[in-house]
Amino acid sequence: MVRSVIKGLGSYVPPKVVTNDDLAGLMDTSHEWILTRTGIEERHFAEEGVYCSDLALEASRRAIADAGITAGDVDFIILATLSPDHHFPGTGCGLQDKLEIPPVACLDVRNQCTGFLYSLTVGDALVRTGAYQNVLVVGAEVHSSGLDFTNQGRDVAVLFGDGAGAVVLSPSPDPDRGLLYSKLYAEGKHAKALCANVWDISRKPYLTKEDLDQRRHFPSMDGKTVFKHAVTRLVETVKNTLETQGISREDIKYVIPHQANMRINQIVADRLGWPREMFLHNMQRYGNTTAASIPLLLDETYRNGMISKGDLLLVIAFGAGFTWGSALYRW
Ligand SMILES: CC(C)(COP(=O)(O)OP(=O)(O)OC[C@H]1O[C@@H](n2cnc3c(N)ncnc32)[C@H](O)[C@@H]1OP(=O)(O)O)[C@@H](O)C(=O)NCCC(=O)NCCS
Repeated sequence: MVRSVIKGLGSYVPPKVVTNDDLAGLMDTSHEWILTRTGIEERHFAEEGVYCSDLALEASRRAIADAGITAGDVDFIILATLSPDHHFPGTGCGLQDKLEIPPVACLDVRNQCTGFLYSLTVGDALVRTGAYQNVLVVGAEVHSSGLDFTNQGRDVAVLFGDGAGAVVLSPSPDPDRGLLYSKLYAEGKHAKALCANVWDISRKPYLTKEDLDQRRHFPSMDGKTVFKHAVTRLVETVKNTLETQGISREDIKYVIPHQANMRINQIVADRLGWPREMFLHNMQRYGNTTAASIPLLLDETYRNGMISKGDLLLVIAFGAGFTWGSALYRW
């Protein structure tokens, strides 16, 4: 049996750090409000002129080097983002160009905070068919250009940060290692609870000055609904994963959760009756980096020497759509 394994991983955040106090200088908010409700202390913002594909490039270079391959060995690129370089073409194509490699397949995945988990699952399937040897799976975001830093947008603007994370997925003949399981979900009836209303293709033209005047290009969020559904679905998906895979909490070394809000993850841990320390976090320093959050956390955890061969990781995510899912990865 062929499994896909992470042959290399890397991440990148732009150098500029923006603290909660910095945001409090732009809108009516405070370090205390943000910290107590989300756990976030600071985030990184890209400078003007930096594209999503630029952050993706840095993370990809690191993952490729860590895998011990060259960029030219990559034969498929999957790039997850909700902040693409442009409406079209896909940002994966931009990354291919910036990697300066010959033409390869490029796929953009638009599943927001669950985007990396969806991409990992697709990459795994591609590797296991035997058709691809080095699938580059990237999550990257430049949120800072799309946030409303006035009081009107403060509920969303304080949550997000920019960054990128990448892995190289390759085949392994060891049936006990690599991506052992994944299960994905989406429920579109909650689309309006977290969305950007710009680009309404049913309208002719689909983009007007009125859209900008009415601030439709900024995200709109019903925070309480997102919070409630995130907790319910994440608890449910963890329970399903354990039940269908015949494993227990004791088999799992760490939970690598999407980094939306520390309270969400703590409540999930509490409802499951699991120690909160099993759920790893770095959102304190990066905020919610959407598709980048899981590979960013995975990369940091690996580089900190916290993961050993044989460790079982449970990856979980929830985001706009709503979309959610889980994966089990044996290191
Ligand atoms: C956004 C979130 C932190 C808000 O927390 P909350 O406890 O639900 O807060 P509320 O929405 O009840 O707002 C409480 C008050 O704070 C205010 N407020 C909102 N944003 C604020 C900010 N950045 N700073 C200070 N006050 C703020 C609200 O206007 C409201 O004021 P009011 O009571 O006078 O009307 C929380 O709902 C959340 O984290 N939701 C999930 C969001 C998420 O994870 N999204 C990404 C999913 S992938």
